[in-house]
Amino acid sequence: MIGAIPLVVRSREELRTALTDASRPVGLVPTMGALHEGHASLIRRARAENATVVVSVFVNPTQFETPSDLTAYPRSLDPDVALCAAEAVDIVFAPAVDEVYPPGTGTSVHPGPIAEGLEGAARPGHFVGVATVVAILLGLVGPERAYFGEKDGQQLRVVARMAFDLGMPTAVVGCPTVRERDGLAMSSRNARLTAEDRAAAPVLRSALLAARAQWLTGERDGTALRDAMRTVLAAEPRATIDYVSVADDGDLREIGGRAAGAVLCSLAAWFGDVRLIDNETLADR
Ligand code: PAJ
Repeated sequence: MIGAIPLVVRSREELRTALTDASRPVGLVPTMGALHEGHASLIRRARAENATVVVSVFVNPTQFETPSDLTAYPRSLDPDVALCAAEAVDIVFAPAVDEVYPPGTGTSVHPGPIAEGLEGAARPGHFVGVATVVAILLGLVGPERAYFGEKDGQQLRVVARMAFDLGMPTAVVGCPTVRERDGLAMSSRNARLTAEDRAAAPVLRSALLAARAQWLTGERDGTALRDAMRTVLAAEPRATIDYVSVADDGDLREIGGRAAGAVLCSLAAWFGDVRLIDNETLADR
């Protein structure tokens, strides 16, 4: 099907039919649409590694804590399908809410401690929504591989942990963060920034690079690394810090004293009413 327009399916039934004769292996890229170059990089990786590529486009209501955030989320299926066509996607699964959560749905997935800090603390219930919808999508598509961005570092770890804990047969594949030229991680939320906030937002990347510079000089103290990021963020008046974290890269427990192994530096900040996140893993070579 390479080069052809993807088959767009809306229901569980249509998806099942489309997958009946699909060549294996199947790669799934779950998205909420408003696709950009970050999503495209996941799709390209899936295309390179699988005979059939499925992209799901579903704005999952259960992972939004506030109705206004859900309403504000951009929706653009036609351009999304066009991007999928350009990347030789075979199937686009774009279900309605009832199709993913049929009336009477009562099962949910509650991830463990890995979901408690960072985004989990800032957005209560968020990772129950993410884990549940990803479990449903993995169940419906049954892919050999599913692709997630390191941009959402905790999400990637929560999903990988869920797949392991629940004995799911899908391999969870992490893909590097795609950035704008000035270092800002690509995100559909970037389009909502004012011109001034857009100009200020690369400070997130600068803060992470400051932590990396410290790390390269041998600094391993969690507080010192957090301070390095805070100092950079504090110098940008348009950024309001939500959290700054240096956590164990494996279990995401906050580093109190000296880090023994790799750490995940992550941060979240508000620019006006837009909340942006970014992260960076620091490890010994
Ligand atoms: P969404 O924000 O649309 O992102 C879909 C996938 O694209 C995620 O795995 C995300 O980490 C990845 N991604 C986004 N921006 C990226 C960038 N700049 N570089 C690399 N990868 C990037 O994340 C979700 O949707 C949802 O939570 C979902 C997993 C689909 C469940 O509803």
